Amino acid sequence: MSPVVPHPSRGADTADHAEVSAPAFVGRERELAVLDHALAQPPAVVLLEGEAGIGKSRLLREHVATGRLGALVATCPPFQESLTLGPIVDAVRQSRAADHLPGMPVSPLVGVLRPLFPEWSDLLPPQPGPLDDPKASRHRIFSALAELIGHLRVRVLVVEDVHWADRATLEFLLFLVSRRQPPLGLVVSYRPEDVPDGSLLLRLSSRLPAGWSQVRLTLPPLDVAATAGLVSSMLGGERVSDEFAGFLHDRTDGIPLAIEESVRLLRQRDDVLRHDGEWIRRSLDELAVPPTVRDSVLERAQRLGPAARRAIEAAAVLAEPAEERLIAEVAGLDPAGSRAALAEAVRSGLLADDDRGRLTFRHALVGRAVYDALTGVDQRRLHGRAGAALERREPRPVVQLSRHFQAARQIGKWCTYAEQAADHAAASGDHTTAVTLLVRPLATAPVPAPAAVQLAVKLATAAAARREPVDDLHHAAIRTLRDVLGRGDLAPREQADIRNPLGRLLLQAGEFEQAHAELSRAVPDLAHDPVEAARAMTYLGYPLQGPWPAAVHLGWLERAARVAPGVGTPVDRLALTADRAAALLALGQEAGWTVAAELPATVTDADERRELARGLANIAYVATGWGRYADAEARLATATELVGLTGYTRLQATVLAIEAQLDWYTGRWAGLAERVTDLVAAADLETSGSLEPFLVDGLLHAAAGSPRRAEQRFRSLLSDAPADSIAALPVTPAAALAALRLDAGDVAGAAAVTDEPMRTIVTKQMWVWASDLARIRLDVLLAAGRNAEAAELLAAYEEGLGDVDAPASRAALLTCRAAVLAAQGEALGAAAGYA
Ligand SMILES: Nc1ncnc2c1ncn2[C@@H]1O[C@H](COP(=O)(O)OP(=O)(O)OP(=O)(O)O)[C@@H](O)[C@H]1O
Ligand SMILES: [Mg+2]
Repeated sequence: MSPVVPHPSRGADTADHAEVSAPAFVGRERELAVLDHALAQPPAVVLLEGEAGIGKSRLLREHVATGRLGALVATCPPFQESLTLGPIVDAVRQSRAADHLPGMPVSPLVGVLRPLFPEWSDLLPPQPGPLDDPKASRHRIFSALAELIGHLRVRVLVVEDVHWADRATLEFLLFLVSRRQPPLGLVVSYRPEDVPDGSLLLRLSSRLPAGWSQVRLTLPPLDVAATAGLVSSMLGGERVSDEFAGFLHDRTDGIPLAIEESVRLLRQRDDVLRHDGEWIRRSLDELAVPPTVRDSVLERAQRLGPAARRAIEAAAVLAEPAEERLIAEVAGLDPAGSRAALAEAVRSGLLADDDRGRLTFRHALVGRAVYDALTGVDQRRLHGRAGAALERREPRPVVQLSRHFQAARQIGKWCTYAEQAADHAAASGDHTTAVTLLVRPLATAPVPAPAAVQLAVKLATAAAARREPVDDLHHAAIRTLRDVLGRGDLAPREQADIRNPLGRLLLQAGEFEQAHAELSRAVPDLAHDPVEAARAMTYLGYPLQGPWPAAVHLGWLERAARVAPGVGTPVDRLALTADRAAALLALGQEAGWTVAAELPATVTDADERRELARGLANIAYVATGWGRYADAEARLATATELVGLTGYTRLQATVLAIEAQLDWYTGRWAGLAERVTDLVAAADLETSGSLEPFLVDGLLHAAAGSPRRAEQRFRSLLSDAPADSIAALPVTPAAALAALRLDAGDVAGAAAVTDEPMRTIVTKQMWVWASDLARIRLDVLLAAGRNAEAAELLAAYEEGLGDVDAPASRAALLTCRAAVLAAQGEALGAAAGYA
């Protein structure tokens, strides 16, 4: 489509239209040179900083226009969430990659991009099956997108306005930076004052991998000479007096956008006139330049005719580049009238057309000023029209639709599109965006009951699938679900559908008592969904933290055993069986082995393979705790094989972690330290499902005589490990830490770290986990002269273990018995104990 009107810079400049030219590029020679230099030596990151309107985009445009390097320019829109990776996806789309796609030698991996480019479904390879783990699926999408960009021969990726970037986009940039091939120049522009606290952007500036060079370019205001040059270029190249340039520089602080807007305003007001081929202006005393860009813009908007004004208001509501037809429709202008109106708006310099013939504000601040000046009623009305117009597009721009219907207060449609946008985000592994999209309508609008339940269940599911540490968004999700439950118009079964996943979120947040309360309230009303009922019961059976004794957990596991057989799909049944076996074994129940034996030896379906691998890994972990190392090894071997067949990266990390722990306990220490170091480097304590490498690393340091490093590890395990991890009973790190404290002669400190875990073991009657802890606790009590307590502990341990076949516990019990006897001075008995 051709531009509606000539671009002002190309337009004829006549006195009758209060026209000015777009400013020529001035100053910035140094900055251009720095940019050129940095990008000539990839891989390089350029951080382009500066306040709004200072000229970041212009500098980049000028650089890209030199056309020496293949550049892909992405822009982050100013909304809290965009479509996952939206800025990058849009940039690829605009690069007209589709023209090249048919002959492009893309790998099958690129098929994962189908949800991001629905319009290219015919051109992309088939979509590969889903992965179990959001991190892995995101990684796969990143690799595919990087591959596609590689095929486009992009040498420089420019991402504008990264202060607004969604998390996935920032993660993608970090991903690109983690690879050195092909060498890439990455330029990000942002307003430092708008970068959110804790933004991943900071990692791009502080933690660059070796090999990358980094340049930080901060744009200063223009000086008076450059200001004069800019003004002159807008006024047909006439010389501008130093006095006038100084005056404008003073009023605008040398911000190009403000200078430009002021000149346009002065011209529109006829404060600067062309007369007999010469520019003349009123005297400086008579000139009034508004203090802010906003005021200039508004005054300029007032000067437009009514139709042009409606057009810019519509463009402000759309807020993204739009075709003439769309703007006309939202503005309610007929086609003939709209052409003239848009031409006027473009001539005024408020709107400009981009290279695809779409119209947008020349600068986001200009659009924002126009938008903010609308009344609330007008905003709502125009958003409603924008929604209605965009709804007829294929594929539907669901994120924009959600935003427009939100602002239009059309709650039903808002929910519909927020949900679709969330589905889309979740399908690309971006659960954070999904949660953000779903929380908003539920938290701020009176959503009617059936829709609210549907959104709430989706919200809970997406929140539970996130891999970020428990954060504000996690708590916001919990609060929102509670509010939905509190509204009083939900049927019991609807409540149960929400309470069940809410319980899991609470577990993740370490709110054990509340988690149990929600899960146990859900169970009786989950009859319509026996799989979920059995799952909830199994969660309740897991002896994680919380005050309940073993009997309570066992009760739930027995109920689960009655429900579970025969429900759901084979994958559901497999997962339920594996989880129940692991829970029983964690409780020290021999019956757990019988349940574990019900698991099939082999499966062929991919999902079943994943569940079986996960289940076997968990059982191997618990078997290690029991000291049944051969059982652990056999299961790990099968899990490893299954993981190899399926390629689930997260699960693979778990299996390797459990293997490392097993190797520690069985004394296979050769090469262990290196493996553990690698595993620790690849994991992140707060989000990792596998804490064992951190533990083993600490134990190795303790054994190697580096108690400080070891202590650090144990302490951070005790404080930062995710609350719902199966290893969350902080028994082993506490025991190891106590041993170090005791070695250092700090009896009281050693006692303090073992108090709480010991109490947990006693309350929960989970004596199979006590091997390391009971031994050290006993030494601590004896060292403190608390001999009676030591004897009590020994008696409880003996009785608690019963005749369970847990070799590690048996060995620990013998050691404990010997220590107590020795302390009681029964030398003979002690010798027998050690024998
Ligand atoms: N060096 C320059 N010479 C001439 N005009 C300039 C220059 N720098 C910026 N401008 C003009 O000033 C206006 C604002 O600049 P630009 O859009 O590049 O700002 P920005 O820093 O990208 O702001 P934002 O943070 O809001 O994106 C544009 O119309 C641009 O053409
Ligand atoms: Mg910009």
